[in-house]
Amino acid sequence: MILTSRIAETLTAVVATALLSFAAAPAHSRGPAPDPLTKEFQRVVDEAYAKYKDLKDGKNADYIPILTETPSDLFGVVIVTKDGKVYAAGDVDYVFSIQSVSKPFTAALVMTEQSPAVLKEKIGVEPTGMAFNSKLALSIYENSVNPLVNAGAIAAVSLVQATTEEERWNKVALNISAFAGRPLPVLEKVYESEYSTAFGNRGIANLLYNWGRLYSDPEEALRVYTRQCSIGVSARDLGVMGATLANGGVNPLTQKQVMPAKHVPELLAVMATAGFYDESGDWMYTAALPAKTGVGGGIVAVVPGRFAIAAFSPRLNEAGNSVRSLNAIRDIAGELGVGVFGANPD
Ligand code: DON
Repeated sequence: MILTSRIAETLTAVVATALLSFAAAPAHSRGPAPDPLTKEFQRVVDEAYAKYKDLKDGKNADYIPILTETPSDLFGVVIVTKDGKVYAAGDVDYVFSIQSVSKPFTAALVMTEQSPAVLKEKIGVEPTGMAFNSKLALSIYENSVNPLVNAGAIAAVSLVQATTEEERWNKVALNISAFAGRPLPVLEKVYESEYSTAFGNRGIANLLYNWGRLYSDPEEALRVYTRQCSIGVSARDLGVMGATLANGGVNPLTQKQVMPAKHVPELLAVMATAGFYDESGDWMYTAALPAKTGVGGGIVAVVPGRFAIAAFSPRLNEAGNSVRSLNAIRDIAGELGVGVFGANPD
């Protein structure tokens, strides 16, 4: 059953109510010590913004017309620390579709409701080395995939514990909103555009179901996955979501434990190996941070235990990764020397 606008309204209200209870949660009386790099944060954000704001390389995603309508010159860069401090430059409050940046957060929900072992057994955690929507990759989906490519992300949605589509969507939306610390909207035009042209993803969902690697009705999983990709976020929201991972699964704004701290490292491992699709090797070689990109132009990277760096800019490279966002985040990681392998990329 397609979600009607009445159900969507009800769900929005449910999300808002649940988030109000997060907002009412008591704040810690004493927060964590400030990050030793605190004094550098605004400078590196400003410098990365200034360096790349006039870069015109790449182009907006155009597999659905609506994404070509996002003004291409928008650009925002933000650091959000594990204690919720925000250092921003540019268009960090512009709301765009989250797209694939949603994928690790639904994987986190599967880990939370079930376990990392279930995620590994029922989806897989191997990088594919292929594009996010590769049809050539279908042959390997039968045996191995990960929750950050479309096949694994649709499977992750199907693993969310729910008996109705409404319940499945409600859990997915509440979870992503809890990571962001505010009720996130669905960009209905993006959803309509994606769902009416979701032939490739429908094929993937049906094949996975045929192979016993999809765990709900395929069309239901497809709709909820597509709606998840159509959630609206800002770069600031992505920063808070990443900061929640940096903060052991506790949202620094609401103090809500959104996922168990003990599962964060496993999620970051998947982001490190597959967050940039077929550019993941290059990304880890040069920026060395677990991260996730989306064709809406957003990227979030996590400095484990410390802070997140997020950026938004609609123009993408051939692999579907935002050109200005990835350059800005990579520069900041290098400038601060926070690569997870101890590297200080040039
Ligand atoms: O399902 C899709 O193909 C899109 N809704 C999302 C793809 C995406 O964001 C890939 N990321 N770089």
